[in-house]
Amino acid sequence: MSAPEPSKTEQRKAEHVNIILKENVSAEYDYWNDVHLVHNALPEIDFDEIDVSTTLFGHRLAAPLVISSMTGGFAGGREINANLAKAAAEVGVAMGVGSQRAALEKPELVPTYAVVKDHDIPLRFANLGAPQLVPQEGKRAYGVDDARRAMEMIDGHVLICHLNFLQEIVQPEGDHRAKGVLDAIRRLSAKFPVMAKETGAGISRGVAQRLKGAGVKGIDVGGLGGTSFSAVEYYRAKKEAIDLKERLGATFWNWGIPTPASIQLASVGLPIVATGGVRSGYHVAKAIVLGASAAGMAKPMLEAAKESAEAVVRELRAVIEELKAAMFLTGSRTVEELAAQTAIVARPTADWLEAAK
Ligand SMILES: Cc1cc2nc3c(=O)[nH]c(=O)nc-3n(C[C@H](O)[C@H](O)[C@H](O)COP(=O)(O)O)c2cc1C
Repeated sequence: MSAPEPSKTEQRKAEHVNIILKENVSAEYDYWNDVHLVHNALPEIDFDEIDVSTTLFGHRLAAPLVISSMTGGFAGGREINANLAKAAAEVGVAMGVGSQRAALEKPELVPTYAVVKDHDIPLRFANLGAPQLVPQEGKRAYGVDDARRAMEMIDGHVLICHLNFLQEIVQPEGDHRAKGVLDAIRRLSAKFPVMAKETGAGISRGVAQRLKGAGVKGIDVGGLGGTSFSAVEYYRAKKEAIDLKERLGATFWNWGIPTPASIQLASVGLPIVATGGVRSGYHVAKAIVLGASAAGMAKPMLEAAKESAEAVVRELRAVIEELKAAMFLTGSRTVEELAAQTAIVARPTADWLEAAK
């Protein structure tokens, strides 16, 4: 008997992973280069006593790191999630799975996410798209029961509601209704610990305040500077010869609020996760000095997970070593001491902080 045809959602998930691994999908400018930490020529601490452990949403992590929400929902997603989960458990960092809509639609896909339960990950994030929390054309809205199923599917500690309207508007089959999304997030926040997360276009001060008012417990700024979903959808539209969407993808490739600026803008008294273009432990250190509680990495983790769980462990340990080096050179023994350091912010990121307050 031949395997059933993959659904449109499964095909899309596989295409995203393939495009991100093969094509250049990065934003053009690296905003982390605008941020500098002040060197301490007399650190007066020993490298070996540096402690990078931290607490996020009440869970103890060996380092302030999150393997960002990426995948599940197609056959190849299971192995990627298994490799990420094994490494997250071994190193002691947090991990998210990708949007679980696929498994809510098609229960056979549950194992591609639930595989993360085989590993003792200290903090697990479930994931649902915020646009799907309101009724989109011809589709039902997802609600509290769906969120409960998503959380139970992976024994999640925190539910991520991802905001991805840039992607939806460029995506050939995207959802275009945004009315009522904040209220839907409010309803879920009354039942579960929710973290709102952007996926590459950042969170402004005003949006952060509205999310806080809706009861979310944390914000992942998912800012501009790393993987651009406008770019990803550009390649999909190009392949399918959908000219208008290809053009939109190219036009909005670099749209959004840079991650380092968004950390400061979205700091409204909730824990901040800094995702978007984080490529080293030095970037993680900069994020913490700017006000983040932890930093998230997606694409570099995907590349490693395609190879093996060991490759993910190697990447995580290298990032932690870089973070420790930045802590040593700023004289910070703990993550709290690092957070109290000063960052020099140059233009254009400085312009964002000045103009978008
Ligand atoms: C293959 C892939 C799939 C993704 N799918 C999701 C998703 O389902 N939900 C979500 O919140 N973010 C998703 N993201 C966004 C990432 O979590 C992250 O915000 C973004 O890629 C920026 O991080 P990076 O520059 O380190 O890649 C995905 C990213 C990748 C690379």
